[in-house]
Amino acid sequence: MSGSVIIVGIGPGNDALITPEAQTAIAQATDVVGYIPYVERISARESLTKHASDNRVEIDRSRHALEMASEGKRVVVVSSGDPGVFAMAAAVLEAVEHGEAHWRNLDIQVLPGITAMLAASAACGAPLGHDFCAINLSDNMKPWALIEKRLRLAAEADFAMAFYNPRSKSRPEGFGKALKALQEACGDDRPMIFARNVSRPDQTIKIVPLTEVTEDMADMRTVVLLGSSQTRIIERDDAPLVYTPRSVAG
Ligand SMILES: C[S@@+](CC[C@H](N)C(=O)[O-])C[C@H]1O[C@@H](n2cnc3c(N)ncnc32)[C@H](O)[C@@H]1O
Repeated sequence: MSGSVIIVGIGPGNDALITPEAQTAIAQATDVVGYIPYVERISARESLTKHASDNRVEIDRSRHALEMASEGKRVVVVSSGDPGVFAMAAAVLEAVEHGEAHWRNLDIQVLPGITAMLAASAACGAPLGHDFCAINLSDNMKPWALIEKRLRLAAEADFAMAFYNPRSKSRPEGFGKALKALQEACGDDRPMIFARNVSRPDQTIKIVPLTEVTEDMADMRTVVLLGSSQTRIIERDDAPLVYTPRSVAG
């Protein structure tokens, strides 16, 4: 049988959020490749070999997957959330573009998954209910000046926003700088939502006015959402609901 590389998203944490299509691909794989905690989520079976690797080796991992597919294996590359959102799908395609010529003709598929921002949005209502953008706050792969420019322009365009990789131990100051830029550019008290460990048993959702947020509210297990100027909060006895209306007055 000819080999394949299928890049699948396994959602934000709850197995119920893995699509049936991704489950089928995993069930038919001979080899699964990915970052250690994601590979650990895949049940062991005799006909499956697991290849777990550390963070930040995405290109090596992709090349390994493509080499195994060239040998006829059915390889699944696992990513959290959706594989096309700051994750493995782009890494595999980068490896294809710059790698062995015959890799281009392999059977390569990307299967979508539920990304953290959509699970977080659903957990508190519909803050991404109108136009929005997603920004990766890590400056490992792009200059900080570009991140700040995108934050200011997104605020000027009045997008709701989702922030991935907000704050890590190796980048403790970036999120504070991002908050300062957003507070200056937005100039109001729109809600910021800190959604941590979304869809997992220890999920927490905090809704905080933008003027009151502090940098220690986010870590690498948090996806942060920011409303647009139109975003509303519906107070009720239970947790409030947040939504951004579908229309904007002309
Ligand atoms: C490298 S990105 C991967 C994103 C992933 N491909 C997705 O579509 O969700 C990792 C970041 O995603 C966010 N994230 C992933 N899973 C999450 C979860 N269960 N709860 C909150 N944030 C999550 C966090 O911002 C984390 O720092």
